[in-house]
Amino acid sequence: MASQLPHKIKIGPGKTVCAADGAKHKKRFIVYRWNQDEGDTARLDTFEIPVDACGPMVLDALIYIKNRIDSTLTFRRSCREGICGSCAMNIDATNTLACIRTIQECPEEIRIYPLPHLPVIKDLVPDMTHFYAQYTSIKPWLQTHTPAPPDRERLQSPEERERLDGLYECILCACCSTSCPSYWWNEDRYLGPATLLQAYRWIVDSRDENTGERLDDLEDPFRLFRCHTIMNCTSTCPKQLNPARAIAEIKQLMVNRTL
Ligand code: SF4
Ligand code: SF4
Ligand code: FES
Repeated sequence: MASQLPHKIKIGPGKTVCAADGAKHKKRFIVYRWNQDEGDTARLDTFEIPVDACGPMVLDALIYIKNRIDSTLTFRRSCREGICGSCAMNIDATNTLACIRTIQECPEEIRIYPLPHLPVIKDLVPDMTHFYAQYTSIKPWLQTHTPAPPDRERLQSPEERERLDGLYECILCACCSTSCPSYWWNEDRYLGPATLLQAYRWIVDSRDENTGERLDDLEDPFRLFRCHTIMNCTSTCPKQLNPARAIAEIKQLMVNRTL
């Protein structure tokens, strides 16, 4: 069983854990908690942290809570360098990566929720199954019909390689897709900005020979055209990428091929 924010879950009272007396610089972390034993009621627990005693990032505060206060707190993380995308969550009403958001730039009270509009497995851990299935559906690998040269790789000019800049850096954290109202309301049929940015990454790869088929697969009122250029995706991307522009470029390619 998984919960789904925000429709089906009620928020009940949570616990408050205060920092030891004498701690100088404290901040309060209000953290969403839910596990399947709690049925349709989640809670917000408040943890007061002496921030001088933990590392500088919000992820460090979560690790502090888990190590010293409540070992049942559950969240994903791996690289702590903004590379793996696993610590994506909603911090202070913005989807971002906990490992690159500094505690200093947060207010005195920091609210932390899982990424919105995904089923929740436990606490801050969303179920990414559908998101990854959508990513797989765009066939995110090089597709060719002609054999590779026998004596070297498939080469690109520097200009052709440059067209992948701003695309290859995507870490599939899902911050953009889960900030997109069109994705919230049509997640079953609309691919969402992360998957569409990845689709564009292969469409513009000069080595790929399936461009026409890739565009055919996206020519659909929902898969691509549910993007209404609201731009939340680009505003929230923690890697400063521009999925809205990638989507617009795909739409332009669709138009160009009808001319
Ligand atoms: S485009 Fe940005 S926000 Fe979206 S999945 Fe990629 S890195 Fe994350
Ligand atoms: S620009 Fe498109 S993909 Fe991005 S938030 Fe808006 S509707 Fe969603
Ligand atoms: S832990 Fe890898 S991106 Fe945050």
